[in-house]
Amino acid sequence: MHLGLIGFGAIGQSVAELTATLDTPLTGLTVLVRPNAVARVEAAGLTAATELETLLANRPDLIIECAGHGAVEAYVPACLSAGIDTVIASVGALTDTALFDRISEAAQSSGARAILAPGAVGGIDLLSALRASGIDSVTYTGRKPPQAWAGSPAEELLDLEALTKATPFFEGTAREAAGRFPKNANVAATVAFAGLGLDATRATLIADPDAPGNIHEVQVEARDAAFTIRIEGRASANARTSATTALSLLREVRNRQGPIAI
Ligand SMILES: NC(=O)c1ccc[n+]([C@@H]2O[C@H](COP(=O)([O-])OP(=O)(O)OC[C@H]3O[C@@H](n4cnc5c(N)ncnc54)[C@H](O)[C@@H]3O)[C@@H](O)[C@H]2O)c1
Repeated sequence: MHLGLIGFGAIGQSVAELTATLDTPLTGLTVLVRPNAVARVEAAGLTAATELETLLANRPDLIIECAGHGAVEAYVPACLSAGIDTVIASVGALTDTALFDRISEAAQSSGARAILAPGAVGGIDLLSALRASGIDSVTYTGRKPPQAWAGSPAEELLDLEALTKATPFFEGTAREAAGRFPKNANVAATVAFAGLGLDATRATLIADPDAPGNIHEVQVEARDAAFTIRIEGRASANARTSATTALSLLREVRNRQGPIAI
């Protein structure tokens, strides 16, 4: 498989490194980056492209976006229109309805698929499956240490440095959560798209001095099952790298290579 990556930041670099664990080695890996990152890509022994056309000319079998919302808008519809299945990590970008529609139309007209990666959150498979028989409620709770909310509107609602106990500061819909707290947009949007949608999915955000890291909880009540899943991501060597997200993206590659997908 020839893999295309869009973005070579914390997640892109992790995905590229993790491809060494695949049972079947890739036949190629082309990374679409800004010009200032070309040297970094080439130092890793990979092919760099600074134009989308160059990436597409290399005919990747699968493209993974891990560059951010702007890159989803700039590149993903064109990747899909070129007939290439594209995995999206920046799922929060799809809360923009016009972009969601463009992506969906591009995929529909070429037959390629846009794959919203579960990323940092788990249980997306069961949540999505339960949609067929009816879901009553879905609540996403994002819990992070106070300093992790610095630079977000939480700062205006709380004295982050003075917190001594877990303090919820936002309750609303997944759409509102994604709009007001973009750093949490990807997970809130992923949970919403898998289940009840952006307006019926509830979201609670908590600043918790005792949180050991970024914790995602999803609570689901449905006709055929009720479940709660709690993901406590461990810190990786690079504090900004979401280890679980890169692993989730690699899984999309692995599942397309081997005879058995899981
Ligand atoms: N689904 C999830 O659970 C989840 C979790 C974490 C992050 N994410 C998404 O993944 C994205 C990447 O995360 P990261 O930690 O690697 O971020 P990062 O900032 O370390 O890396 C992003 C890289 O993409 C590059 N980039 C941005 N726009 C680009 C463009 N138009 N063309 C080429 N390169 C471009 C940047 O220069 C940067 O090097 C985030 O923006 C976020 O939206 C999703």
